[in-house]
Amino acid sequence: MMTPFFCGEPVPNIAKIMRRTIASASDQAMTLHRFDFGQYGSASIGRQFPPSINKPIEVLMETIRELLTDDHRLCDDLFAVVEQAVAAGEWEKADAAFARFCAAMLNHFDLEEGTLFPEFEARTGMTMGPTQVMRSEHRQMRELLAAAEVSLGARDADDYSGYAETLLIMAQQHNMKEENILYPMCDQHLNDRIDEILPTLKKNLNAR
Ligand SMILES: [Fe+2]
Ligand SMILES: [Fe+2]
Repeated sequence: MMTPFFCGEPVPNIAKIMRRTIASASDQAMTLHRFDFGQYGSASIGRQFPPSINKPIEVLMETIRELLTDDHRLCDDLFAVVEQAVAAGEWEKADAAFARFCAAMLNHFDLEEGTLFPEFEARTGMTMGPTQVMRSEHRQMRELLAAAEVSLGARDADDYSGYAETLLIMAQQHNMKEENILYPMCDQHLNDRIDEILPTLKKNLNAR
């Protein structure tokens, strides 16, 4: 069987690749001041809202950004376990690892769409802005997860690697937008609701 390749390197190195690419994507993002959300425009991203700050973000024990960024990293780690199992031809292990990875990803999407995004939209009035773009990307990633699951069931490492590579790139770009733009906006605009939102997010993350 041919060794599947990911970004030009054998799949066993995927954990290293993910860390490297995520780190470099994160570095690049530090230089971003605005982000183009495609057909939904970018102007709204730069809009200034009156700060509804009751307490400075710096003194909070934890931020939405920190909590959900940690969960992105957890999903990355679970993804790497699947890749390693597929590369080793350990299909049953890959099935179990994929189930954990998929559940974590879907739970994360549901949490954002069911709790965080509605709170952000209600506070800012931005219902057709960044959250709408994130929802659309979640839809695409759900489809990639489903396709990857089918190829895993068929024990087709090449097919799986193709879907996994696309998913990896999309997830990296998606997470970068959330971690560097949307989550900080949520922390800013929802800071007076943080004591209610954070426990809700944590409860759902811990329940899986
Ligand atoms: Fe998301
Ligand atoms: Fe996210």
